[in-house]
Amino acid sequence: MTTVKQPMTATPSTTTGAQLHASPAVRAAIDAIVNEIAAKSAMLTGERAGNPGLKESYEALMKRASEVRGRGLLYPYIGSGVGNGALVELADGSVKWDMICGIGVNFFGHSDTDLARAALESGLDDVVKHGNLSSNFGAFEFAQTLVGEAKKNSRLKYAYLSTSGAMANENALKVCFQKHAPASRVIAFNDCFMGRSTTMAQIGDTSDYRQGLPLNTLVDYMPFWDGVAAERMGGKVRFIDAAVKQLETFIHRYPGQHACFIFELIQGEGGFNIGDRDYLKAIMEVCRAKRIAVWFDEIQTFGRGERMFAYEWLNLGEYVDVLCVGKMTQACATLYTEEYNPKAGLLSGTFTGEGVSFRVGQRVIERLRDGGYYGDQGICAKQHAAFRAQAAALMAKHPEWFPAVESLGGGGERLIGGTGGMVRLTPFGGDKKKINEACKMCFEEGVILFYCGHGPYHLRMLPPLGVFKDSDWPRVFACIERGLARVK
Ligand SMILES: Cc1ncc(COP(=O)(O)O)c(C=O)c1O
Repeated sequence: MTTVKQPMTATPSTTTGAQLHASPAVRAAIDAIVNEIAAKSAMLTGERAGNPGLKESYEALMKRASEVRGRGLLYPYIGSGVGNGALVELADGSVKWDMICGIGVNFFGHSDTDLARAALESGLDDVVKHGNLSSNFGAFEFAQTLVGEAKKNSRLKYAYLSTSGAMANENALKVCFQKHAPASRVIAFNDCFMGRSTTMAQIGDTSDYRQGLPLNTLVDYMPFWDGVAAERMGGKVRFIDAAVKQLETFIHRYPGQHACFIFELIQGEGGFNIGDRDYLKAIMEVCRAKRIAVWFDEIQTFGRGERMFAYEWLNLGEYVDVLCVGKMTQACATLYTEEYNPKAGLLSGTFTGEGVSFRVGQRVIERLRDGGYYGDQGICAKQHAAFRAQAAALMAKHPEWFPAVESLGGGGERLIGGTGGMVRLTPFGGDKKKINEACKMCFEEGVILFYCGHGPYHLRMLPPLGVFKDSDWPRVFACIERGLARVK
């Protein structure tokens, strides 16, 4: 091979790309845009009704959205493109408290200037999408930052990037299957949720989400930790012993055929149910002894608890073989240990993601790492306590909305749940229809919530704790109170 000789001219030891990023004209333009975002964002100071002058055009947008989608939207939500922290403006000019953030995506809320800057910088990239064949360094830097945090309390070593949580889970499943081939069974918890691909919809424990799908994935279901059931059985030890026996029965029935056990350490969609360390540890010990991969789905739990990873909070990092993150990380990833690093060819695809997802996702992880979010006195723990205080005050004011729920073990505090920035409240006995209606009424009153659980149903919040202020809670709860008052 002959090499083409370059002319001997003095060139700066930098690339043209680096020069573009350092260009004073570019820096000034980005500063100007970020300042303008901050100025417009600051104009939103609280919830407000829609602008009557925009009603017709908003309805037209809704109609167009529904027509192309084939069904109406769950909420009449189309954003205007500007928000301020937990507040978001919709295209009808209304402003709402966003307490669900796209189901946990926007931990730093709306129009965050630091993230806007990262997004603008990524707009300088020569291409939008990066892939396995060719990529700028943003993808690897994001992965390195993520793995750097994961490594602190686990053996996780590598990350493979993808564009959705379901795809990250698909990749995790393949990694487990390949490692333990020909084992083809999966163990999962009752009420788990893993995404909407055909396989994840089969493993996920919601029959509505797999209607009409052929079933070709072999799943054995174990009970999730249930403190109330444990009390009724005569204590934690009995509950754990019974579950371990059940697991051993599955393993005995299908010897050598289980590739992995998929753990949501805190269940999201299933009802914000919190796992118990002793229970999870006992199960993981069995998995380890029987060479069944331990796979954590932290797509919803990542970042928002009292530690960055739920496994750190529960001190279970030594057990994890494979782990998935998504949602607030913007780019999704499957992480694995040295032992689980798959053979070439197993994981690929055209896209790993967009430069904007990598750059913004990296800033999210850095800010979580450096921002005082974790520990007993961290922001997540403090904001969680503030939520509980507000919820308790609402319950004291309107006890008629909060009857006891048997499966939660009663009323009062038992109707307030979750951890960190993953919080739930259970009015109306957890009745599905009323919880749905409560979500709609609360939306109209200026706060966006969602639901979770499979009965009882709960009001679910994934608030943007990264930008949430103490003074926001009473304002949010005033909207919730008005909303619940309208539920028939
Ligand atoms: C625990 C869990 N796993 C997987 C997923 C799927 O992620 P995605 O919707 O990005 O595919 C979700 C989404 O809600 C989730 O909560």
